[in-house]
Amino acid sequence: MVCGIIGITSSEDVLDKPLGVSLKEALKKLEYRGYDSVGFALIDKAGRLVVRKSKGMIDAVAAKVGFELFDGYTGIGHTRWATHGPPSDVNSHPHTDCSGKIAVAHNGIIENYMELKEALIDEGHTFISETDTEVIPHLIEEFEKKGFKPYEAFKKAVELLRGAYAIVAIDVNDPRKVFFARNTSPLVLGFGVKANFVASDAVAFLNFTRRVLALRDGEVGYITPEEVVVERLEFREGRPVWVAVDFTSRVKNIDWTVEMASKGGFKHFMLKEIHEQPYALASTIASAAESVDKLAKILTRVDRVLLAGAGTSYHAAYVAALLLRKYAGLWALPVVSSEAQWWLSTVKEGDVVLGISQSGETIDTLKAVREAKKRGALTVAVSNVIDSAIPRESDIAIYTKAGPEIGVAATKTFTTQVTLLGYLSLRTGVLNGFLSESEASEAFKSLRELPNLVRHAINTYEAKMASLAVEMKDRPNAYFLGRGLGLPLSMEGALKLKEIAYIHAEAYPAGESKHGPIALVEEGFPTIFTIVTADEGELIKSNVEEMRARGSLTIAVFPKNLEDIARLVKTPIKMPVVKDVAASALYIVPHQLLAYYTSVKKGLDPDKPRNLAKTVTVF
Ligand code: F6R
Repeated sequence: MVCGIIGITSSEDVLDKPLGVSLKEALKKLEYRGYDSVGFALIDKAGRLVVRKSKGMIDAVAAKVGFELFDGYTGIGHTRWATHGPPSDVNSHPHTDCSGKIAVAHNGIIENYMELKEALIDEGHTFISETDTEVIPHLIEEFEKKGFKPYEAFKKAVELLRGAYAIVAIDVNDPRKVFFARNTSPLVLGFGVKANFVASDAVAFLNFTRRVLALRDGEVGYITPEEVVVERLEFREGRPVWVAVDFTSRVKNIDWTVEMASKGGFKHFMLKEIHEQPYALASTIASAAESVDKLAKILTRVDRVLLAGAGTSYHAAYVAALLLRKYAGLWALPVVSSEAQWWLSTVKEGDVVLGISQSGETIDTLKAVREAKKRGALTVAVSNVIDSAIPRESDIAIYTKAGPEIGVAATKTFTTQVTLLGYLSLRTGVLNGFLSESEASEAFKSLRELPNLVRHAINTYEAKMASLAVEMKDRPNAYFLGRGLGLPLSMEGALKLKEIAYIHAEAYPAGESKHGPIALVEEGFPTIFTIVTADEGELIKSNVEEMRARGSLTIAVFPKNLEDIARLVKTPIKMPVVKDVAASALYIVPHQLLAYYTSVKKGLDPDKPRNLAKTVTVF
């Protein structure tokens, strides 16, 4: 899972506040990633290493340790999501060496830590935590003892590590540098004025700079206030040598603003992000016109398309596969990324595999893309984060323009994924002649209207969903049923309710419900139907009847002209009648609001659901 990492190095007092406070503020921005402990280390103005850390949430830990009491020019901070060793003060990061001069924070898993730890214990090192991370400061210390300078010792230590990691380290023997290393876990550099940054997500330092470099696997280096050094290990004549990386052309200005990454008056990021959907969709549609054409042309010549994604991104893949079939006549199949290897076994040159991932870092999806590439397929990333791992490793990348999504539950990234991929389906259908001009122009028009329709749906349904949430909040279970496009939307609705309101919610093809699931339905059991098209509505009527007959609390999200459905269900959520390509994004809005308000009414924090993290970089 992910933890949050920040490293700051500054000269003079450019931060305008004690370094401890800047570290705390950066960690607050990373809170969304999910964590159970917090800590920081800095080199104070007298050149001493100060480490403060504890189990708990940032504000509580700050009250206990007093971030504002500590100042200096070089520091690192960390939010930990426990993997090795339970959440505790001692297992919190940063970890230090025996001499208390080196501090390290780490995200990921060091697979060979046991053997390294045993070897270090034999050398006389003492360990106090149960973490894998603690081997790193001791390794650096060991290499320094052998005469290596701090940065060289850091690199020597990294050479010995196996696994997934993003690491930052500081060392009083070289007090202006923050060392870093990336392998699989995300890490980005920020280029400021008399200050440089390293973090697991650029949102941590957006109030200082928007000039960003996404590090690549295998890159190691350091920042000082004036200098950024990036190196990678290469093998020359069989010997490993560290060589400098010229990264100048990779430095990007990101257009995310501080405002976009803060709550802006909303109680939770999730609610803010639901409300941001009109802008996110408008930006995505505006950029789609330029970005998808090359890909649409390619799709006119391919045999098969596989779309891999995890969680919400899988649901977007499912919607997109149906749209690619319907509007472009393509053979398209959605697959869950962690299951992709069994579907990819027959993929070959001439096929296209899309890796859909808002973060661009989900390891299961990255693995699917790598596998597809190995088999000769053309790989396409669909992401919200420029230059993240999946776009970097794919042949082509297209981007949603949702802005930073901080709430753990995906909302605006889902609707923008569906819309971007819907747009791609239409363009492909136009180019390969599958779609008539009149149908295409009606469908594109519906996409252009989508931002306003979403705005209107939020205004219309927010209060209604908040009151429906009162009915939902004490129910232990719910079914989400749909057919066709209504099925992936049902899956997404169920996932939202499950992950933030902790209600056991299951999605089924409505037609399947009578083949087993209906056994659970009794008086008051909620069944929530999602119907996108009139065809789906026609077929689903009998399923609604079946549930009604058993006393189910029936709710339906459907086009308002389906009068039979309106008559049949207890709670009708009547949506605008709009082309399915736009409805696939629009009709999820009531589900997002229902999940959000149910979570809030249960007294939960929808931004930080238990056991979940925003970016999942472990298998
Ligand atoms: C659900 C959710 C997760 C993610 C999944 C994939 O609300 O956020 O299910 O959708 O972890 O993440 P990405 O899209 O970053 O690959």
